[in-house]
Amino acid sequence: MGLMDFFTGRAPAPFASPDPAIAREQMLASLLVMAWVVEARDPYTGGHLWRVSRYAALLCERSGIAMQQCARIAIGGFLHDLGKVGIPDAILRKADKLTDAEYAVIKTHPEVGARMLAGHPLAELVRDAVLLHHETPDGRGYPGGMAGTDIPVSARVVGLSDAFDAMTSTRPYRVGMPVGQALEVIESQLGRQFDDTLGRHFLALGQEGLLDHIAGHSDDGIPLQRCLMCDSTLVIRREQRAGDALFCRNCGGGYRLESGHEDEVLKAVPTGALGSAADLQPVADTELIQRFVRDTVREAFATTPAV
Ligand SMILES: [Fe+2]
Repeated sequence: MGLMDFFTGRAPAPFASPDPAIAREQMLASLLVMAWVVEARDPYTGGHLWRVSRYAALLCERSGIAMQQCARIAIGGFLHDLGKVGIPDAILRKADKLTDAEYAVIKTHPEVGARMLAGHPLAELVRDAVLLHHETPDGRGYPGGMAGTDIPVSARVVGLSDAFDAMTSTRPYRVGMPVGQALEVIESQLGRQFDDTLGRHFLALGQEGLLDHIAGHSDDGIPLQRCLMCDSTLVIRREQRAGDALFCRNCGGGYRLESGHEDEVLKAVPTGALGSAADLQPVADTELIQRFVRDTVREAFATTPAV
């Protein structure tokens, strides 16, 4: 006997679409929303998940990885830091150098993420990227100290993409490196922190200028802007228009989007207002997530029979 609705006594509507393909998209979209809200806890990393998934997709394509696997790795790139929900704010948002004990807490996030996904119908799709993205080919990574090609390719791709984004992003305690400088670091660490073959492909992408429209952006054609009051990132959504209000998630400072600038990018102009609790609640960019689902998820399951 199926579960009956407690109040009406009738059979409840199914939780997910009876169409397995649509149900997979719904399940994945809900995971992406959760990953977005987890990331939003850190006001300085705006757009990180989008950038990591874009770098990962480009690197996969350049490396000749099959399309379906590329799409799965891009999804892993979006979900890789899900486990950071378990890291206390005092550590996650600490501006100073972490103590050894604090760093030990940070290092739990891959396993926390893998445990959060355990039992989820789509866990297998992204488990390696979530659990193993901080393993490094020299065996000095975590949580397992795996080495070389024992580390699944999805984790090597996401790890490299994540590290490149960390290097090129501005944090409260340091300005992000220019793309060229971060590529030099990758080159110096080939075969050690970064996979040799994947790293060389990534360097080629960088030399061809194909990373420039991702670095410092939070969506296609949307450069990151910074809060004039507290310097955290202001993430502008593609659907937002001139005149729309926007608030800094860190200090609550209010902005209005203005057009008419030379580069045709909407600029956030401070209004002097402060956001209310309702204005400042974390809201996932559901349009970006829907686009990502449409572009990526169908490819990721292209050969999965609909049973
Ligand atoms: Fe991570």
